[in-house]
Amino acid sequence: MIVTIDGPAGAGKSTVARMLAQKLDFDFLDTGAMYRCVVLQGRRQKVDWKDEDGLAQIANELVLEFDGTLVLLDGEDVGSEIRSPEVTALIHYAADNLKVREAMVALQRKLASEDDVVTEGRDQGTVAFPEAECKIFLSASAEERARRRVEQMRQAGQDVTTEEILEQQNLRDRQDEAREVGGLKAAADALHVITDGMRPFEVVEHLERLVRIRR
Ligand code: C5P
Repeated sequence: MIVTIDGPAGAGKSTVARMLAQKLDFDFLDTGAMYRCVVLQGRRQKVDWKDEDGLAQIANELVLEFDGTLVLLDGEDVGSEIRSPEVTALIHYAADNLKVREAMVALQRKLASEDDVVTEGRDQGTVAFPEAECKIFLSASAEERARRRVEQMRQAGQDVTTEEILEQQNLRDRQDEAREVGGLKAAADALHVITDGMRPFEVVEHLERLVRIRR
């Protein structure tokens, strides 16, 4: 069975998708991490960001593994490096590149072909898995999403203000929504879940009920 969870940055998708996968004993696919790995590898190989084919080649050659909560690039745990502001600021080069997207979708389908999976991203219910049995579109108000991210970053020792996070988030929302292929969009048959005021475990319980109805 394939469960897709799409939605904007900061909606809490990763946390709840990972928890849901664990509860259902499904594999978990963090597709944002894939695009982040393309950018990290591009930085390491000093790619010319305007060279679309160069970046696509990097995407096609990516040796990526997901091991529980770990994201391994060429066997190296890059979980925190891929979430740095430097990588986030460059992400649009990977996400806007059609050949990179093709490579990522092919990889997602390959990874999901082996087992039941909860997959999380922007285009999972629309492009990658249009036939998925259960599609969720997870969202929260912009203010709530920014508040959560600030809390998360402060806990990680980063000094940020709500205003600056809200500004970055609005920019990323606009870029993600405007993308012609693979842009942020709910599938016509997606179930919309708005998580304002809900704790992660409450969201997971709700999602679990929605999945079990469709199993
Ligand atoms: O989910 P996360 O914030 O890690 O995703 C990083 C970026 O990767 C998103 O802002 C989006 O531009 C891109 N992305 C995408 N398609 C996906 C997942 C992520 O374009 N399926």
